[in-house]
Amino acid sequence: MSQRIKIAQKDGKVSVEERTSAASIFERSVPGRTGFSLPAESADTAKKVDDAIPARFRRKSRAALPEVGELDVVRHFTHLSTRTLGVDTTFYPLGSCTMKYNPKINEDIAALPGNCHVHPHQPADTMQGLLKVYHDTAEILGKLTGLPGVSLQPAAGAHGEFTALLVMKAYFESRGEAHRNEVIIPDTAHGTNPASALRCGLEAVNIQSDSRGRVNIEELKSRLGPNTACMMITNPNTLGLFEDQIHEVAELIHAAGALIYLDGANFNAIVGRVRPADFGADMMHINVHKTFSIPHGGGGPGAGPICVRDFLAPFLPAPHIKFDGTSYSFDHNCPQSIGKVRSYFGNVNNVMRTYVYLRQLGEEGVRQIASYAVLNANYLLSLLAGAYDVPFGRRCMHEFVINATRQKNQGARAMDIAKKILDYGFHPPTTYFPLIVPEALMIEPTETESKETLELFAAAMLEIARLSAEDSSQVTAAPQSTPVTRMDELAAARQPVLSWPDSK
Ligand SMILES: Cc1ncc(COP(=O)(O)O)c(C=O)c1O
Repeated sequence: MSQRIKIAQKDGKVSVEERTSAASIFERSVPGRTGFSLPAESADTAKKVDDAIPARFRRKSRAALPEVGELDVVRHFTHLSTRTLGVDTTFYPLGSCTMKYNPKINEDIAALPGNCHVHPHQPADTMQGLLKVYHDTAEILGKLTGLPGVSLQPAAGAHGEFTALLVMKAYFESRGEAHRNEVIIPDTAHGTNPASALRCGLEAVNIQSDSRGRVNIEELKSRLGPNTACMMITNPNTLGLFEDQIHEVAELIHAAGALIYLDGANFNAIVGRVRPADFGADMMHINVHKTFSIPHGGGGPGAGPICVRDFLAPFLPAPHIKFDGTSYSFDHNCPQSIGKVRSYFGNVNNVMRTYVYLRQLGEEGVRQIASYAVLNANYLLSLLAGAYDVPFGRRCMHEFVINATRQKNQGARAMDIAKKILDYGFHPPTTYFPLIVPEALMIEPTETESKETLELFAAAMLEIARLSAEDSSQVTAAPQSTPVTRMDELAAARQPVLSWPDSK
């Protein structure tokens, strides 16, 4: 990791004083240095603004901002950008969260002025191009899922769940079935599923998985009742296994008058090969950062479109986008709509990135997403299976879960292995999820990684297993080569240092 040699000048002599990690922007500060000065008129305006602020609200002293030149700022931020791991710098096998490569052409096109300078209050006839992108993206997603009602408004997967459940509620209310308030959720589900249900005023009913890591059909039957609104199911599930009884599950749910919500987070494993509507899904969200490549939105500034069956479409967020054969327009006349869930049209740039990715790949390319995602995961699983325990069989979809119980018995837990992998320059896999696997390490290589990268990662994981068996302290002391080495996690949580000492 980068270190800086600090040069000191004493008595006219230059000496190497100490070796420190790179200086912070506050350490670079030199009184009086500026990187930018306001033109005289702006300085006047700034003073007028200052004077307009009542004295009691004005600062008593100058803000302790670093005084630096432009080059200091560039070096500071460039340096910071190298102190973290990202898909553009290294392999990032975060299971379930799917950190896959975002082609740069997505960024270039999303950044075109015609896309990012559109004003939300512009008349529709001046943004026909953008509306066409929205219309066509929705159409493609409708075809890929078999669910033709599409809203591009939700800003993340979790937001898509929330929106679709509101759509479902409005649908049941319109049928006089507002009493349906129970959402069945398997124990392998992502935490956002029960959270979304609760946020919508629904009740989460948890069911256990069977010994094969799939939905326990007998338990499902026992939980179904007149109040069941839907089942939220992830397929493939978060163990990386295809729910092979999905037809039976859907039949049971539909026979009870309820609906199937597909958590489409793992759609990259089946996209272009299976349409969720064909195995019974009535509504779903798509995490576009996982399937069609956008930066992961961290629950907000991403995109999580929802796709629903025809009978749910009238309840989708408004406005809908209409095409009359000649031009595109907003249809605000949606009396049954749940209203808006996001300002204006959602995250335009992410819809644009999705569209570019889809058009770049075309139909055949989209099918290959699933093939390579599954092939890569199975290859990596086969390389690791001898050294780590595999709880649910040696075949998987796009991701898999191994368990570090063997290593835990030697003294190194899943968390230690995750930290040790940092010393080899890789981002760790997801740890301790799904909750039903003890010492879980959940690995998703994604379709974009090469065979050589998978083999390098496997070599590091095998070496860690060897070290653990030989002397686990070689693993539990990790990481040792990162800017911040092994830390006291309890202190980091209880007494966090939230500011740079010199900046106070
Ligand atoms: C299975 C599953 N469902 C839902 C979500 C929530 O998606 P988002 O982070 O886009 O809100 C995730 C997140 O990675 C997930 O893995």
